[in-house]
Amino acid sequence: MTLQLQENLSLKPYNTFGVEVSARWFAQAHDDAEVREGLATAAGKGLPLMVIGGGSNLLLTRDVEALVLRMASRGARILSDDGVRVVVEAEAGEVWDDFVRWTLEQGLGGLENLSLIPGTVGAAPMQNIGAYGVEIKDVFVSLTALDRQSGELREFDLGECAFAYRESRFKREPERWLILRVRFSLSRAPQLRLDYGPVRQRLAEEGGDTPTPADVSRVIRAIRREKLPDPAILGNAGSFFKNPVVTAGEADALRARFSDLVAYPQGDGQVKLAAGWLIDRAGWKGFRDGAVGVHAQQALVLVNYGGATGAQLYALAGRIREDIRQRFGVDLEMEPNLY
Ligand code: EPU
Repeated sequence: MTLQLQENLSLKPYNTFGVEVSARWFAQAHDDAEVREGLATAAGKGLPLMVIGGGSNLLLTRDVEALVLRMASRGARILSDDGVRVVVEAEAGEVWDDFVRWTLEQGLGGLENLSLIPGTVGAAPMQNIGAYGVEIKDVFVSLTALDRQSGELREFDLGECAFAYRESRFKREPERWLILRVRFSLSRAPQLRLDYGPVRQRLAEEGGDTPTPADVSRVIRAIRREKLPDPAILGNAGSFFKNPVVTAGEADALRARFSDLVAYPQGDGQVKLAAGWLIDRAGWKGFRDGAVGVHAQQALVLVNYGGATGAQLYALAGRIREDIRQRFGVDLEMEPNLY
């Protein structure tokens, strides 16, 4: 196939915040050959290449002076199946949640807690997506990436990806690696993870004795729909800040002042605080200033009510960050990638 280039294209449909900026050049890559063509085209024009997936973890504050390449490769397949352990592979451009549904239809467990996360398969390892007690590192086998410098393909196994909370080697070196496809180890007899938040209780309310991965997925979809705004209706990029990690001493000092502090010990002397709780407690939940605001059901989510610029969203984030620093002495780190 040959890459179809478009000049000065609006990126509004390609970022879930729904921010209006334009890309100097834009194209969609459906296979490895088109990815390589994109790299060569950008180099020929003397422009950087910006790779995007679902645009769900992106804050665009200005027009993009680059060739924006949207990963649009599709497909998922079973690579091996010993009756219990099943290794599956999906192309980078697959919509993450379509892929999760496909694994559940195959009778495979492992990704059910990650249901309804926006974005694509190729973007998932970038920030080691996680929800309801599972991160993709828990089921990850390997991925194939293109080395943008040498043009060679390289495989990365789990140990080589440097996965951490919303972090990976690929996020730290965005100019270097371009993820093409990802492999996961799933199970026909999965160990379900039900201990995060209301998952177990919601399953119990439904009454079934032995929940399946599909049951867990259904419950998590319902919980997410209650708390997180649908980007098709209200522009957003999920959690805007990471949950900050502080020392046990700092957490104790905060708990002395705020007895209802939400904190999760990490087992290494560090404690993760719920940023949503901090922002909520500081009174920002439901705050609105013109076209930008803080979601009324989840204080960690910034929203575009329509027509907001990336700069306005970034400015609101700065105000919240400063307020949290003053009130709690905690520094919040932004989760989406900023351009
Ligand atoms: N909380 C509040 N007020 C709020 C929001 C949260 O008090 O407005 C409290 C909750 O009551 C709860 C705690 O904070 O005790 C944690 O809230 P929640 O379970 O909603 O999760 P979160 O820490 O805010 C994280 C992820 C989400 C993921 C959920 C569920 C991060 C930055 N966010 O949110 O991921 O879906 O857990 O696992 O780690 C994302 O990264 O974009 C994302 C949506």
